[in-house]
Amino acid sequence: MFSLNTGGKRSHAVLLIVACGSFLFGLLMSPLTSLSKCRTPMEQLKVTPARHYQGFNGSNPAADWMKKDLILFRKKCGTPISSEDVKTVVLNKVFDGSSPFMDFPPELAKPYLRQKRIRGWGSTGTVFMRLLEEVRPKIILELGTYLGASALHMANLSKSMFDHDFLILCIDDFRGWPGFRDKFKFHQINGDVQLFYQFMQNVQTMNFTDNILPLPFSTTSAMSALCEWGVYADLIEVDAAHDFHSAWADINLGYSLLKPGGVMFGHDYFTKLDNRGVGRAVDLFAKLKGLRVEPDGQHWILRSK
Ligand SMILES: C[S@@+](CC[C@H](N)C(=O)[O-])C[C@H]1O[C@@H](n2cnc3c(N)ncnc32)[C@H](O)[C@@H]1O
Repeated sequence: MFSLNTGGKRSHAVLLIVACGSFLFGLLMSPLTSLSKCRTPMEQLKVTPARHYQGFNGSNPAADWMKKDLILFRKKCGTPISSEDVKTVVLNKVFDGSSPFMDFPPELAKPYLRQKRIRGWGSTGTVFMRLLEEVRPKIILELGTYLGASALHMANLSKSMFDHDFLILCIDDFRGWPGFRDKFKFHQINGDVQLFYQFMQNVQTMNFTDNILPLPFSTTSAMSALCEWGVYADLIEVDAAHDFHSAWADINLGYSLLKPGGVMFGHDYFTKLDNRGVGRAVDLFAKLKGLRVEPDGQHWILRSK
C-alpha cells in the first residue's frame, strides 16, 4: 500500500512538471514559430535585405529584386569601336600591347606541352559552317574554349571562306572544371594544369596566332570589360559552364555584345547536359526577349533583333 501510494504522488508531481514545462516551452517558442511558419518567404525577405533593397514606391522588395538583378543585365555597352581596332584595344588592355604568343612557350611549360592536343565536344557541328557563311564575321567571341577545338575549327573555315581579316576572342579561365583531370591527364605545376599553355600551343601549331586571342578570365568579367571598351561581335558562341545560372548570365551578357544583325549560338541544347540548365536558360531568355530559338543539331541559335 505504502509504496503504491508514494508512486501515485510521484506520478502526479511528474505530470505537473511536464504540463508546466510544455506551457513554458510553448510560450518561449511562439515568436520563433510565427517568424518561421506564419510568414511567407516573401514577407521574410522584407525583413532581411532592407539595407540595399528598400523597395521602389513602397512595393515588394523581392519583386524589385527580380526586376533589378535577376533579369536586368546591362543592355547598353560603350560606343562601338571598329572591328579593325579590336585587336589593338584588347592587346593594350590585357597584354601590355604585345602578343601573348611572343616567345611562346615559356621554359617551365615546354616539357609538358604536346605539339598539338585538341579535344572538344560537338566542336565541328554543321552549325559552324552554316553561321559563318551567313554572318561572314570579322569579330567572333567564344565563351568556353578549352583546348581550342571549336575556335580552331572556326578559324580554319574562316580562312578558307573569307578574304577579310577575322579575329576570334576566346574567353576561358582555362581551368577546366573541378575534377576534369580524372578524365584528361594534364600535368600540374603548383596547382596550375597548363590548359592555357596547351591551348596556345595548339593555336601556334595551327598558325592562327594572328587570328585567335585568348582572354583568360571568367566569362562574366571579360564580357563586362568588352562591354566597357565598346567591343562588339558579329558571332558569339556560348559554351562555357552549363549550369542554369552561368548559362543565364553568359547569354544575357553575350547578347548585349552582339552587333546589329549578329548571331549568338551555343552547344548542349539537345544533349544530356541540357537538363543542367542550358536549355532552360536559352528558352527563358528567348521568351523574355520575344526571340525564336532555332535548333541546329545539338546547338541553339538566337538572332539579334
Ligand atoms: C565545354 S568546354 C568548351 C569546349 C569548346 N567550346 C570546344 O568545343 O572545343 C568549357 C570550357 O569553359 C570554361 N569555363 C567554364 N566556366 C567558365 C567561366 N565561368 N568563365 C570562363 N571559362 C569558363 C572551362 O574552363 C572549359 O574550358
